[in-house]
Amino acid sequence: MIALSDYARVVVFTGAGMSAESGVPTYRGRGGIWQQYDYEDYACESAFRRHPQRVLDFHELRREQVLGCEPHAGHAHLASLQRTHPSLSIVTQNIDGMHQRAGGAVAAELHGSLWRLRCAQHGVVEDAAAGRFVRRDCTQCGRPLRPDITWFGDMIDEAVFAQARALIEMCSLFVCIGTSAVVWPAAGLIPFDVRQRPHLVEINPEPTDGSARFDRVLRASASALPELLVP
Ligand code: APR
Repeated sequence: MIALSDYARVVVFTGAGMSAESGVPTYRGRGGIWQQYDYEDYACESAFRRHPQRVLDFHELRREQVLGCEPHAGHAHLASLQRTHPSLSIVTQNIDGMHQRAGGAVAAELHGSLWRLRCAQHGVVEDAAAGRFVRRDCTQCGRPLRPDITWFGDMIDEAVFAQARALIEMCSLFVCIGTSAVVWPAAGLIPFDVRQRPHLVEINPEPTDGSARFDRVLRASASALPELLVP
């Protein structure tokens, strides 16, 4: 058990495992999305240029999947901890919006969001939460709007990463939940090699490549957070 009151600033860094118990599939491992779908056909800019509607349909399917899932006790617990411990920041690789649906405030969505569209050229972002992912074109250039997420081969959103880095630099506790931490540059945000290292905790039912480098490893599921992190 970890008492947040022992730490002035906390960053919780989440990956697909955070949403797994809600029924949202992870990316790697058994039943992972990239076992079923080749990312080169569904999750990169060149696939979108070749077959925009096919790529939008794939993401629409993912949106429907997410809408059929409910945030679990772990999501709700993080949101409630943020009320008692306002310096708890959530930095997520997830694009599913589950933290927000549970009432959590997300400081950085590193890989964007399934609930927005954007123009690759003009950066114009449209909220698509209410509508379906049918092809919509940019009003400025006529190119089809793409999901506002970071696909394979895309540049990262530097401003979002800068925001995450600033929070991580100041934190005294860093809790990594449900990520295999193999996708860079997001994985590089885990502050293993910094001079003023925060206390580093991993929460994951399975070992990861980085497990040995954490100060504390809790082999537990994300839904067990109410027992693992206390105010
Ligand atoms: N609770 C906590 N962790 C879990 C749970 C659970 N109930 N179930 C699975 N996990 C862990 C797995 O053990 C694994 O380490 O979640 C992790 C999921 O890893 P990935 O599928 O690789 O997901 P993630 O690390 O978020 O992927 C990073 O890769 O494809 C890209 O952009 C995509 O943001 C994603 C990025």
